[in-house]
Amino acid sequence: MEQTEDIKFTNAKKASIDDPVEVKHRATVSREDRSTVGEIRVDSPRMSCTDVNVYYSGQRAIKDINLDIGNNEIIAMIGPSGCGKTTFLRCLNRMNDTIKGCEVTGSIMMDDYEINSREIDVVPLRAQVGMVFQKPNPFPKSIWENIAFGPRIHGLAQDKTELEEIVVTSLQKAGLWDEVKDRLDQPGTGLSGGQQQRLCIARTIAVNPEVILMDEPCSALDPIATAVVEDLMDQLRENFSIAIVTHSMQQAARVSQRTAYFHLGDLIEVGITEEVFTKPKHQLTEDYITGRFG
Ligand SMILES: Nc1ncnc2c1ncn2[C@@H]1O[C@H](COP(=O)(O)OP(=O)(O)OP(=O)(O)O)[C@@H](O)[C@H]1O
Ligand SMILES: [Mg+2]
Repeated sequence: MEQTEDIKFTNAKKASIDDPVEVKHRATVSREDRSTVGEIRVDSPRMSCTDVNVYYSGQRAIKDINLDIGNNEIIAMIGPSGCGKTTFLRCLNRMNDTIKGCEVTGSIMMDDYEINSREIDVVPLRAQVGMVFQKPNPFPKSIWENIAFGPRIHGLAQDKTELEEIVVTSLQKAGLWDEVKDRLDQPGTGLSGGQQQRLCIARTIAVNPEVILMDEPCSALDPIATAVVEDLMDQLRENFSIAIVTHSMQQAARVSQRTAYFHLGDLIEVGITEEVFTKPKHQLTEDYITGRFG
């Protein structure tokens, strides 16, 4: 049996070890060609990026990225370390603003708004486009406050009962409720790494985001917690769009509908996940997914 058939293009219950993939068809675009191959645009996109460049102290980290994030889709960003996945993700909710010497050029449209414009208020934007980081970063507050803080400052609850409902359902959706229901007044930082990550996911979904950015959200999680997060992502997709950076090709295959492959700051290939993994068009994509690079 070919190894590709071991990759399940469904939301598998259990995360597995990441093996390289064996492709069925050889790529035809040469390694030297750095223009993006595949469908960068979708019908009625949730976000639309055109010629996005990011510079750190004048040094270009990502180059002329053109890519749409679709409605109700999970798009996976893959590629070798340092290729610009996190940098690109951070453009989508202006997190690069927090980095000194970082400049983002180009256009990022959302609901007819240019979110890369100086006039945009980043506080509501970051609730609308929430982010879950690789390293969990709970507030130095109680578990309850970690979740209640966002809905309170964004005025999402009319009263205490409503706020309580948001806290409980967010923790339930993130698969953490049973573990924390008796210790809601204890500090979020006192939880285990995997619990902290689920707390951060609960905090993100508590403010009802439209797009969720996830930067290797499962790298600190065990297979059971990973499966909980992947199931949650699948549910969230019904109402939201998710962009996830992952080093696990199995995870990309399990959760995403489209995959984008980055290489040294270039967006090399975008396509339907199953096609990218079984019939990559670009030689660099094939090298990466078959384990010859990175
Ligand atoms: N704060 C920063 N200051 C300067 N350079 C940075 C900064 N963050 C990232 N870079 C550089 O930008 C490039 C892209 O980095 P980025 O973190 O986006 O890569 P990545 O694909 O997310 O890698 P990884 O898989 O290791 O997380 C790298 O060359 C990196 O050194
Ligand atoms: Mg990264």
